[in-house]
Amino acid sequence: MTKLITVDPKKPDMRKIRTAARIIKNGGTVAFPTETVYGLGANALNSKAVKKIYVAKNRPADNPLIVHISNQDDLAILAKSIPPIVKKIIAKYWPGPLTIILEKSDKVPKITTGGQKTVAIRMPSNKIAQLLIKEAKTPIAAPSANLFGKPSPTKAEHVIEDLTGRVDLIIDGGDATIGIESTVVDFTEKNPMILRPGKITQKELEQFGKILIDPSLLGKKRKKIVAKSPGMKYRHYSPDAKIIIVRGDSKKAAAKIKELALKFRTKDRRIAVLSTRKQEKIKSDLIIYLGKNKDTIAKNLYAAFRKCDQKNIDIILSRGSEETGIGFAVMNRMKKAAYKIITV
Ligand code: TXA
Ligand code: MG
Repeated sequence: MTKLITVDPKKPDMRKIRTAARIIKNGGTVAFPTETVYGLGANALNSKAVKKIYVAKNRPADNPLIVHISNQDDLAILAKSIPPIVKKIIAKYWPGPLTIILEKSDKVPKITTGGQKTVAIRMPSNKIAQLLIKEAKTPIAAPSANLFGKPSPTKAEHVIEDLTGRVDLIIDGGDATIGIESTVVDFTEKNPMILRPGKITQKELEQFGKILIDPSLLGKKRKKIVAKSPGMKYRHYSPDAKIIIVRGDSKKAAAKIKELALKFRTKDRRIAVLSTRKQEKIKSDLIIYLGKNKDTIAKNLYAAFRKCDQKNIDIILSRGSEETGIGFAVMNRMKKAAYKIITV
């Protein structure tokens, strides 16, 4: 049986937080909001509890989880050592949408790290997430709270859709404010490397030293490069419909989308348009306004994908995003989900 509670993200009710924390302490599973996407949490140091996460999500056992902490002191419990550059970076960006990978300590069970010798760690800024970790008095392992192969959940209703009957508790704490997953940076090699782009960019991190980007994120041919992050080899974030991304000049892209909608829409083929223009007028079965800048696109993208699945859409025509700032991460998620990308 899955319980559902609603918690005000601005003024969390501590009694409800304690109820959730008790479930974690007892080895159960709790889905909770973070600023990026909802997470599905369990005690990161309890193998039996962590196993429940993989089962609930249908997640492959070799895909490691991110361990969430509320206090920098917990780093010393989880990691063998903390390089000086990491100390500087987390002083600026934690709590926040940044995950760091370090060599794991013996305290972290293998199941939490998918068999790796390294561990991914993040301190979320969402108040509910922070209080839950603090009250549970243990680091919480939490991947995104979606079923394997579905987009990450940015609203409680997405978690309810995927995980009802599969977890002990779901906390409805409102919509995620960022909407795409944290930046993941590996600090276990000579040069730190971004394995997954997010809101915190390479440019921001480079104030502190050289930061590489996983070549597979730069459109280099997949075959030659073994992705470092185990999760990156799976085709994530993908709705059932075929997605065609149109990027480039705003007016030209809008015209191209109009043309494609006309071409593809038939009696038995349903078309959705994801637009960055508020009063878009295109003949289609569904139009979703993503907002007009890359931050709003990030926030609304996954919900749009889910809406399209609900409405049995066959083809999604979407505007791309500028690849600066969070836009690089947005395009990374769009490319992973896309069937085709057209530049106009
Ligand atoms: O924003 C986020 O990071 C959200 C919220 C809930 O915190 N969590 C999240 O977790 O997106 P998940 O499990 O969906 O994605 C974790 C990613 C995967 O691509 C995984 O392979 C990678 O991080 N990862 C975790 N541990 C790793 C490790 N030790 N080495 C390399 N990659 C790792
Ligand atoms: Mg995920």
